[in-house]
Amino acid sequence: MKRAILSDIHGNLEALTAVLADIDAQGIKAIYCLGDIIGYGPNPRECADRAMSFDLCVLGNHDQGALFDPEGFSSGAERAIFWTRQQLELPDEDAAIRQKRWHFLCELPRQCREEEILFVHGSARNPLNEYVFPEDVYNPRKLGRIFSLILGTCFQGHTHVPGVFTEDCRFVSPVDAGGSYELNGQKVMVNVGSVGQPRDSNPNASYVVLEDDAIHFRRVSYDIDATVGKIYDIADLDNFLGDRLREGR
Ligand SMILES: [Fe+2]
Repeated sequence: MKRAILSDIHGNLEALTAVLADIDAQGIKAIYCLGDIIGYGPNPRECADRAMSFDLCVLGNHDQGALFDPEGFSSGAERAIFWTRQQLELPDEDAAIRQKRWHFLCELPRQCREEEILFVHGSARNPLNEYVFPEDVYNPRKLGRIFSLILGTCFQGHTHVPGVFTEDCRFVSPVDAGGSYELNGQKVMVNVGSVGQPRDSNPNASYVVLEDDAIHFRRVSYDIDATVGKIYDIADLDNFLGDRLREGR
């Protein structure tokens, strides 16, 4: 069974719509999401509504920040989080959908395990908040501790930088991998990148397809100008949040 695994939508409806169309065009029915559905972007409600139909979603730090008290965010990110919370609290035409959306977000689990596959937002050690960056390959102690908690494959997001971490401390980017990575029984952490705010210098939305023992990295172009225009029009969303989308940073 093919599965699409995506993360860090961050309220970017144009990117999410393009990714869902790409998933649909491949006939893929199962969609897993690794958190940060909301925060930063201009369409948190619409993105949350689409995520409700996914097969699995775990909690991200921005989802948690919007629901509870944001801690440890930059001032721009914090302002975006408070604006996001306001959007979730706005009366909807349909009161039931607002309730349903809140319940959905509040009940997101911090992690999910399916046999030897783990799904988290940050890392196996700290599912909500820990970043595992490509430069962490120079910190074997950190990677070793995290790998000790992984049975097979750990899918994660949070950094918005896609790629595969191996137990012998290598980072294989999607380009290095030639677009696909073969799981060969070794433990790996797979960062699926970000749908709504990629930060690997490629502005196209990122996600992966898991098919048997292969991971296919996908990039999807979308109407970035439309998203940037919406961000510029909302005073509480810093213009930088739009500018960065154009450069994928
Ligand atoms: Fe994120």
